[in-house]
This record gives sequence, structure tokens and C-alpha cells, in this order.
Amino acid sequence: MEQFDFRRMSFYQIWIRSFMDGNGDGVGDLYGVYDKLDYIASLGVDGIWFSPIYPSPNADYGYDISDYRNIHPDYGTLDEFRKVLDRAHALGLRVIMDLVINHTSDEHPWFLESRKSRTGPYSDYYIWRDPKWKGESRLPPNNWFSQFEGLAWEYCPEREQYYLHVFAKKQPDLNMDNPRVREEVKGIMRFWLDMGVDGFREDVITYISKHPQLPDGIPFLPVINGQPYYKDGPNLVPYLREFREVAKEYGALQIGEAPMTPVKTALTYLTGEDRVLDMMIQFDTMGADCFMTEYLHHPFFLPKLKHAFSKWQYALAGKAWNALYLENHDHPRVISRYGSEEFRRESGTMLAAAYIFQQGTPFIYQGQELGMTNIRLGSIEEYQDVATKNAYHSFRRRQTEEKRLRHVHRASRDSARTPVQWDGSPNAGFSKAKPWFSVNPNYREVNAEKEEADPQSVLNFYRRCLRLRKGSDTLLWGDYREFWPQHPHLYVYERCYGTERILVVCSFSKTEQSWKLPKGYAWEGCTLLLCNYGEEPVPERLRPYEARVLRWDRK
Ligand code: GLC
Repeated sequence: MEQFDFRRMSFYQIWIRSFMDGNGDGVGDLYGVYDKLDYIASLGVDGIWFSPIYPSPNADYGYDISDYRNIHPDYGTLDEFRKVLDRAHALGLRVIMDLVINHTSDEHPWFLESRKSRTGPYSDYYIWRDPKWKGESRLPPNNWFSQFEGLAWEYCPEREQYYLHVFAKKQPDLNMDNPRVREEVKGIMRFWLDMGVDGFREDVITYISKHPQLPDGIPFLPVINGQPYYKDGPNLVPYLREFREVAKEYGALQIGEAPMTPVKTALTYLTGEDRVLDMMIQFDTMGADCFMTEYLHHPFFLPKLKHAFSKWQYALAGKAWNALYLENHDHPRVISRYGSEEFRRESGTMLAAAYIFQQGTPFIYQGQELGMTNIRLGSIEEYQDVATKNAYHSFRRRQTEEKRLRHVHRASRDSARTPVQWDGSPNAGFSKAKPWFSVNPNYREVNAEKEEADPQSVLNFYRRCLRLRKGSDTLLWGDYREFWPQHPHLYVYERCYGTERILVVCSFSKTEQSWKLPKGYAWEGCTLLLCNYGEEPVPERLRPYEARVLRWDRK
């Protein structure tokens, strides 16, 4: 079946537990989603990506799946999902699901069987290895750390073997080298595609093929020392090709999450005969204030962000298509990172213009369009996320609790997981009951109702950006060129197409900046398409976090 044109689209990501509670139990659900579908459509997006909504013990909030063909009872039923799907389609919204197949929950029936013995039908569904022995001491098969919880191996007395878990202990890695496991994956894909979903966001898909020998990684590198041996592995492309065959039958979209995959490697997945993925969620743009993980913080450095943006824009131009994002459920809120909470409206709107007008398909994460910011909880016990707790307990252990908490405030992905702030009523209008997780105390100031009422709000600016992008061939297809990559405060890029040139000008500064048009441009004939301030701009002065989109006819 022919694929729909995902390049014209933009997506809204739902992390359901905190989106909207429709049945009054303090937990977001499909009833809440159903009620908010008109709101989502009103943004001007064309699709929804659901982070996992399947049954899960929630060791990693849905990314540990115990049944791939059902809905978590907290969120509703398959019938309710079908209702949401039909209504979304009627509103012109495509729906893509999260496909988490690098690992399952340890409570998945496959794992419960697999752990029983070395000879059963499921014994080879996961990555099991014998211990290493040093004298009398039993050691794990190699020195890999998991990304979420200590060592990457857990011992299982029944089999007298270890199983691999690249993430939490309760997330055993599947053995994708087993053809039966790949058949299971295809079955799961068909199950959802037959129901009518439009594609998948494929979780850590570049981790599914491990180096056959599982060699030791660098001993002193925490968290990701095994990554060279489980990322972009030897059989990744052949396996993805198999899954692609299924997707092709349905014209389904496939977006791969690829932590730390370099752009050159990404191109092998996104181009040519082996175009096994349509888009890739790269991590480079998440690193402008840190090294590899948000827990290794450095001050935000604009040239680093611009370098990441432009690297992907230039490398994929004419060959592949970018997925554009600044937030998702795995990263703290972008205003608190790359913008300024003090200039919440200004920086929230500017950041929208900075990424939405690049070439690619924009993704907007729930609450991002409202300008939501990071939460700062008083103790580590109040946090929910396994990765946050692990980082707190593994980094900077000699520092005071206060200092360590400050890192959590800055880095925790729980900041993206607080309930969406719908209005100024108790619990931010998210639920009538006590929400499952803390609401950001700024909800009386920052909420959808207020944002709706203010023409200059972050919310209304997102709408304007998406409308402008969709109606402009230049913004959809035009060539990208960046000016002044080393400029410490300004991000300026051009999009050119046919007889039109568009310049996007973004100030990342808290103070006014003077600037001049790049060489080859003149003010004459310039039209202002969009600005994040209500009052007329002064041509060569940029107000704090000002963003402007300017247009010229090309001679
Ligand atoms: C991906 C998900 C993240 C999850 C991890 C393990 O990175 O986006 O939320 O914790 O995979 O499944």
C-alpha cells in the first residue's frame, strides 16, 4: 500500500499517564484523550504518537510491556482505544503507536517461561549467558552497566544464568537473533496495523542487534560502557528490513529512536534500497547543555545547539527527512534548559520558531505548546522515574543532598511527566482526584485556559507556526542555510525555494541585541510573516528572545 506523505505532517506526542484523566482516578487515560482530541486537532497537527499505553508493571512507565496486544487497565480498553482511533481519524489525525521491542517487562509471559529453564519453547527469547567464575566468585558475563540500574546483568537461580538488561532490571532484552522473536514482532505490528493505526515510533530500535560475543566495554565509563556492542549492531539492517516488509503492506510509517547514532550511520537506515526507517529521533539536539546525559550538565551553549541542528539539516538535505523535536518524555522541559523561565512566553515561542521552520516533520510533546517548565521537588523520594533515581544514586555521591537534588531539578525527565496543566482549578484541571504525580505549582499561571485567552501566548504561537509551515512550500521543501554558526546569541537560518526566500531569526538572549541582515539581504521588499512580540519590531534590534520570520521574493 502506498505510504501517506509524512513530510507535510506534524505530530503531537501523548504520554498518557499525565495527559488527561477522564475517569476521575488521578491517572491520565484514553477517556481523557478522547475528550481532548478536538484540542489536539486545534493545534494544527496531523498526527498523534502515543507513548506506550499497553499493560505494564510501570517499572519504566509503559516502556516495560507485559502484553503487547492490549491496553493498560489504568488507561481503558481496546474498545475505548478503537473509539479514540476512529475519532482521531475523523479529525484528520493519524495515530502511531510506540513499538518497544528491544526488551519486555520481566512480567511478560515470555520471560516468565524463559526464566524457568534452558530448554523450554521460550528459553531462547532473551539474552542468557553463563556466569564467569573467578575462583569461587560468580561474576556477570561481562562488565556492562545498564542505562538505568547498576550492572546490565541479573542472575536467575532457576537457570543458573544471567539475563541481559540494558535498561532496568525489570526490562530484560529480547534476543532478536531468534527468528521466532522477530515473528512475534511482526505479529504485534500486524495486530495494531489491522486495527487501523498508521505506524510506529520504534523505541531504541538501534539497540536490537547485539554484538554476538558481547565483549567487555570500557571499565570506568558509567551507564553506557557496553553501548558500542549493542548499538547499531551487525544484524540491525536485516532485521529492520523484515519489519519494513510488514509496514510496507500497510503503508505504515516507521520512526526509529536512535540514541547517539551518528548522522552517517543514520543515513544508512534512512536512504537507498535499505531505507528501513522513514525518520530518526536523533539525540544531538538534546546535548547543548550537557555531555551525553542531562546529569552531566554544562551551561547551555548556543553554538553547540546550532551545530547539532545544522549538521542534521545539511546531511539529510535531498536524501532523507528529519524528525524535529525539542522535547519528549525523556528530557526536561526545553524552556528551563535552552530558554528562560523568567522569559517563559518569549523563550517558549522563540524556541518553537527555532525548530519548526527547519526542514523536517515537527514533533510537539504534551505541555510544550503550553510553555510548561521543570518541576523542583523537595526530595528524591518524590520522584517517580527509575532513571532519575539511578542517576541521583550514582553521580556525585559525595556532594550534599541539596546539590545533588539541584542536578535532579535540572536533569530529571520527570519534569516532562507532571500532569498537563489545563486550567487554574485544583490539580490543574487534570483530574478531580489526587493526581498520581505532583502537579507543577506554577499551574495557576501556566495553563491551557490562560494560554487560549492570550493571543500572544506560547499556545497560540505554536498554532501560528504550524499553520505557516503547512501553507508554505518554502518552509516545507526549501533549502536550509545557517548564518553565523559561532554567534553566541543568535540563530539565523534561511529557507529558499523557487522564487521565495525566508529568513528565520531567533535571539537566545535575555537582553536586547542589535543585528544586521546577512550579506545578500536588504530590508527593501521584506515582509514580516511572523513575530513573537505583539508590537512592531524595530528592524535592527531584537528584543529578549525575539523570533521573526521574514520573507523576500527572490530575483
Ligand atoms: C526509550 C524511551 C524511554 C525508555 C527507554 C527504555 O529511550 O523513550 O522512555 O525509558 O527507551 O525503554
